[in-house]
Amino acid sequence: MIRRPPAGQRSLFPLPPSALPAAPQAAAAEPASPPTPNAHTPQIEIFHGDNLPILATFADASFDLIYIDPPFNTGHTQARTRIRTERAEDGDRVGFQGRTYRTTVLGSSAFADRFDDYLRFLEPRLEQAHRLLASHGSLFLHLDYHEVHYAKVMLDGIFGRDSFINEIIWAYDYGARATKRWSPKHDNILWYAKDPGAYCFNYEQIDRIPYLAPALVGAEKAARGKTPTDTWWHTIVSPTGKERTGYPTQKPLGVLSRIVRVHSRPGDRLLDFFAGSGTFGEAGARLGRGVVLIDDNPEAIAVMRGRFAGLSTAFREAGVGRDEHA
Ligand SMILES: C[S@@+](CC[C@H](N)C(=O)[O-])C[C@H]1O[C@@H](n2cnc3c(N)ncnc32)[C@H](O)[C@@H]1O
Repeated sequence: MIRRPPAGQRSLFPLPPSALPAAPQAAAAEPASPPTPNAHTPQIEIFHGDNLPILATFADASFDLIYIDPPFNTGHTQARTRIRTERAEDGDRVGFQGRTYRTTVLGSSAFADRFDDYLRFLEPRLEQAHRLLASHGSLFLHLDYHEVHYAKVMLDGIFGRDSFINEIIWAYDYGARATKRWSPKHDNILWYAKDPGAYCFNYEQIDRIPYLAPALVGAEKAARGKTPTDTWWHTIVSPTGKERTGYPTQKPLGVLSRIVRVHSRPGDRLLDFFAGSGTFGEAGARLGRGVVLIDDNPEAIAVMRGRFAGLSTAFREAGVGRDEHA
């Protein structure tokens, strides 16, 4: 059932889902997915709560595509300073029998400890992602340069190295420039397939981008454009643009829509268990996919309530045993 959003409330779904443009069929070479009666009527379920116990309630292989954009800094920082002491007449410490020692600070392990905690937080959730994916399904893990290498090693262990297909670099060019190093202006998105021999890759659904030097390729090719590589140039969500929800870590709809279009089919069931403002859910719903979104932050749930206003959305309060329908 579609309800109109309250007067004055911005809806990202001005049309009922059945009126959204139907995504073209997947490329013929791909394994066919079973027809679904509701291919263009997105089912949206939003869970409020810690994702780990909620994920445990879903059946094995019950999702076709998972995208997650976990927060950094989830673990507790444990500042531990490593020192070396040596005998010295002018030392800064007095030890046994009045001997003096000089202390040299070798470094702090606070950063490493934070990584350890972060990875311990992430690991059981990535194991759940693997369990929940259908055999043709894929996981997209969105991180940045701080922790992507550690997560890659962890995912190689969970999925198998053969299941790693691409590292997508989302490059943007916004904001201040560093003056003491190269300005980091990219995020990293790791793509793992549950089965590296049978994943969904709808080549014909890839949007085309302009050639850098169209004059060199001829008019026909220049008009068609080219497919993007594993480096995706896309602006961030504009702080003043229409897309902005106000959620601080909101990702651009254009980037996540490309993932949905190319790596799933209409009627598929998608999951984002670090949903934030619900960008992946919006991309999925607009393209006729069912979406399950989880977040433990009440502010995220409030933003998603606004974002999905006008669509039939089930809001579930985890652990409370109460279902509520918008
Ligand atoms: C980087 S944001 C996701 C932003 C999102 N991709 C978007 O476009 O708006 C990460 C989200 O994970 C949520 N989160 C962190 N730990 C969680 C947990 N254990 N269970 C559920 N959600 C969690 C945070 O509340 C936050 O909204």
